[in-house]
Parts: sequence; C-alpha cells; structure tokens
Amino acid sequence: MNITQIQDKILKLKKEKDVCILAHSYQAHEILEIADFTGDSYKLSVDASKATNKNIMMCGVRFMAETCKILSPEKTVYIPQPNAGCAMADQMDKQLISQVKEMYPDYTVVAYVNTTADLKTICDVCVTSSSAVKIVNNIENKNILFIPDCNLGDYVAKSCPDKNIKLLNGGCPIHACVNTDDVKKAKALHPNAELLVHPECVPEVVAMADYVGSTSGIMNYAKNSDKKEFIIGTEISITEHLQYECPDKNFYNLSLKLICPNMKSTTLIDVLNCLEGKGGAEITLDDQTINDARKCIDEMIRLG
Ligand code: 13P
Ligand code: SF4
Repeated sequence: MNITQIQDKILKLKKEKDVCILAHSYQAHEILEIADFTGDSYKLSVDASKATNKNIMMCGVRFMAETCKILSPEKTVYIPQPNAGCAMADQMDKQLISQVKEMYPDYTVVAYVNTTADLKTICDVCVTSSSAVKIVNNIENKNILFIPDCNLGDYVAKSCPDKNIKLLNGGCPIHACVNTDDVKKAKALHPNAELLVHPECVPEVVAMADYVGSTSGIMNYAKNSDKKEFIIGTEISITEHLQYECPDKNFYNLSLKLICPNMKSTTLIDVLNCLEGKGGAEITLDDQTINDARKCIDEMIRLG
C-alpha cells in the first residue's frame, strides 16, 4: 500500500468506527492530513472536549492523550503509539512535588500541561505554552510554584514581573539542547530571516528571538507575517509543515538537534493498526485521578 491508500483506509475506518483523530503539530505531514483537528496542546485539549465522536485517537504523546481522557472520561481514548512519552512529563512525579509543596505552602502550584495525569492531581492549575502568561497573570496569588519547565517558567516570570515565581530544574531536553552558538550560526547563514522560538528553549536563546510562542503561535506568526524568511526554533516538523503551507516563503531549522524522538515515533501505519484493533493502546485512568486532575485542567480553561 502507498501513503494515499493507507490514508484512504484510515479515513474510511475512522468514519465507520466514529473516531475523532487529533494530531499535534509535531506529527508527520501524512498524519496531519488525516486528522480532524491539528494544533498545539492547548487547542487540541479544547477540540477534544468539543468532539461529538464516541472515540478519540490522540496522535502525539501520552500526556496529551491523558488530557483528552480527563476532559472526556465517557469517551474511549486511544494512543496509536503506546511508547510515545514526553521526556519532560516523566521528569517529576507526585511524591517529589508533594515534598516541594510542603516547603512552599503559600504558593499556587502551576503545572505545565506536559505532566502526567497523576501529578496533575496535586496541582492547582495547568497551563500550556500558549496560555501560560495569561493564566499566571490571572491567578490571584502572587506566589507561584511553576513546574516542571524552568525555561518556560523563566519566560513566564519575565512576562509577569508582579509575580513571585519559584522554578524547579526541569525542562524539555530537546529544546534545551539549542544554544546561542546555534542561533549565531543560523543568523549568519540567513541574515534576513526572523527567529521564531518555543519558550521551552533556554532563556539566552529566547532573548535573541523575534517571536516567542507555542507551536501554533509560531505557525500563525509565520503565515501572517509580511516577512519571507524564518528560522524555526522548535521541533523540525514545524519547519516542514510551514514550507508546505507557505511555498512562497523560506523556513530554516534553527538546529537539527531539535528532533523529538517520541513525537516522531508515531507512524501512519500505527494509526491504521490502532483503528483496526491490531495496535495502539487505550488510555485508562481511575475515576479519582480523572476527578482530581480535571480540577486543574478546568482551572486552565477558566483562567485562559
Ligand atoms: P505546544 O504547547 O506548543 O503544543 O508544545 C508542546 C510541546 O511538547 C512542545 O515541546
Ligand atoms: Fe516533550 Fe520536549 Fe518532545 Fe515536547 S519536544 S513532547 S516537551 S520531549
């Protein structure tokens, strides 16, 4: 079977089986093409909660599929590649953060959505990269414990100077690999290009950017800009998607280190196998976890 034949089979099966397919913007082009909704993690969590299908398939990483299950517990949620985790989400667990909370009892615990469902159960509010600044500004408490990403946390702290923000030493190992030398090299090669970066990059890289935003934010900025050249400082799939969508503009990877193996692990065949019941996994969470984790996701939607 070629790609088009596999895609046709997927489109037929998802209709028959009443499955809504969500694909994060880091997924491969051929997966985005068969998805009902695509976008950043915030947009997908809202789209998932509005979908009327009985079943949801999340092409992305596990915490995203867990978020769908928390928001739509009555639906059956599948992940086509069960091993697709997130290196950042796996860094901090409930036990560690419970201990940290004891040290900072007056702090509101803000969890980046890149955390496990289990950890979300003891946090006060979730944020995504596109909603973090707005939500933190809308929190009444001045004292914020921001977990797990210290780079996004630093960006939020600089954008919300009235808040007293404590950070822990976590983050995305992929985005954190990029340094100022990579920026200097890319700018020397493409002097007329604007630099667009994800806030998971280190503060020194963020400080050199023309635009800082989520994956959807970066894509929308580039599409709507009058400029013609862009250096993309996030997972390299975004560069590819933008090049497809804007053939009259030029997009360059900030660094080839920006490859997320977890996001890349889902294939079109995984999607087909999952629909055929031959692969993938169902996301199951107990009722207590769903109820407790839901509070901080609902807070995210209320404050965002
Ligand atoms: P977005 O919130 O931009 O979708 O980012 C999620 C992510 O995992 C970035 O590495
Ligand atoms: Fe997680 Fe980083 Fe991959 Fe995003 S790029 S899914 S934060 S490991």
